[in-house]
Amino acid sequence: MSESIRVLIEEDKLNQRIAELGAQISKDFAGEEVCLICILKGSVFFTCELAKRITVPVTLDFMSVSSYGSSTVSSGVIKLKKDLDESIEGKNVIVIEDIIDTGRTLKYLLEDLTKRNPKSLKLCTMLDKPDRRVTDVATDYTGFEIPDEFVVGYGLDYDQRYRNLPYIGILSLN
Ligand code: IMP
Ligand code: MG
Repeated sequence: MSESIRVLIEEDKLNQRIAELGAQISKDFAGEEVCLICILKGSVFFTCELAKRITVPVTLDFMSVSSYGSSTVSSGVIKLKKDLDESIEGKNVIVIEDIIDTGRTLKYLLEDLTKRNPKSLKLCTMLDKPDRRVTDVATDYTGFEIPDEFVVGYGLDYDQRYRNLPYIGILSLN
């Protein structure tokens, strides 16, 4: 089977949008501090780029959950693989996701994080595939809405590959 990739969102466009999101977050949290929770591994590139564009004080923490196996179809089973290092109690938390697909991962995560009593809890996603949603998730900051295609790059993988592409591309398996 051969794999081919067609560009969906160019690097310049992505970075420009991320700068806008950073400016919006800085404005919304003026005078406050924010704790960005990067969901490993897909959100790493997005989190770094976004964090650099936020002008209020930022702390970073990391969590890892699995919902996908090595296929392009969601298994629906969420597993916590790595928890946060620090408590989020009383903090302004923004969960940073690469993509919201069915919404199952975020539903699980937001329920879990709410129980830890943060001061506020927001959700920022680089990409949103609204057509695929099976459970309601309200996003506060969205980079781009995209069609129902399997995408790779800028952190997103297919079987752990392609994360390092500097753009978002649609993967075709022929
Ligand atoms: P959800 O639980 O179905 O919303 O799945 C979210 C997770 O599935 C993301 O954090 C990604 O790791 C993965 N995922 C969903 N859609 C894609 C895609 O198009 N490309 C790569 N990974 C994806
Ligand atoms: Mg993945």
